[in-house]
Amino acid sequence: MLTGTTVGLRARYEDDIPILVAELYNDVVNGSRAEGSPWRPIRPSARDPRLITDESKEDVVAFSVVSLADDALIGSANLWGIDTHNRFAHLGLGLIPSARGSGYGTDVVAVLCRYGFVVRGLNRLQIETLADNHAMLRAAERNGFVREGVLRRSAWVLGEFMDEVVLGMLQEEWMRRS
Ligand SMILES: CC(C)(COP(=O)(O)OP(=O)(O)OC[C@H]1O[C@@H](n2cnc3c(N)ncnc32)[C@H](O)[C@@H]1OP(=O)(O)O)[C@@H](O)C(=O)NCCC(=O)NCCS
Repeated sequence: MLTGTTVGLRARYEDDIPILVAELYNDVVNGSRAEGSPWRPIRPSARDPRLITDESKEDVVAFSVVSLADDALIGSANLWGIDTHNRFAHLGLGLIPSARGSGYGTDVVAVLCRYGFVVRGLNRLQIETLADNHAMLRAAERNGFVREGVLRRSAWVLGEFMDEVVLGMLQEEWMRRS
């Protein structure tokens, strides 16, 4: 397990899936804002690729996030779009509602950066988030990500087009902070 100050990132267990479905993926607002695709309901037993880890896929690594204090499941995190030629990947994360706003998200980003830069030897990590997702923007910036641009009206979210912000960090920048 990868550990931060308050969170652990471990493999996805079968028992995690109904909790993540109920708390994250079947939430229409969260799903619509986070997925970049139309929300659809998921059965707890569904073999949905967002929930099932396929170790044969080289371009994505999925984690379940637990609280180190009590080992409780608090969310999901991943590195996706892993490009081993350009040594680049995207970060994704989502916490269950009761775990938000307590500093866990900032710690998850820190752990994903360590995994990306140290374990995987990547050179660049990227986050895309809606321009009004202040918690995600802050969690990224607290870890050294810089805003690189705005994709104007690039996301259709529940009846309106919204801007997305692209944030990036290079390995050399992360090393200087560590
Ligand atoms: C986005 C998310 C991962 C952030 O994790 P979190 O644990 O809630 O965030 P943290 O508690 O680490 O807070 C990070 C910063 O944002 C601030 N913040 C937290 N919630 C906030 C909110 N609702 N509005 C504004 N700022 C907020 C915190 O004060 C903190 O700033 P600081 O370091 O300057 O004090 C989490 O809220 C979440 O899962 N949201 C729903 C799914 C989602 O949006 N995923 C990202 C898709 S790109």
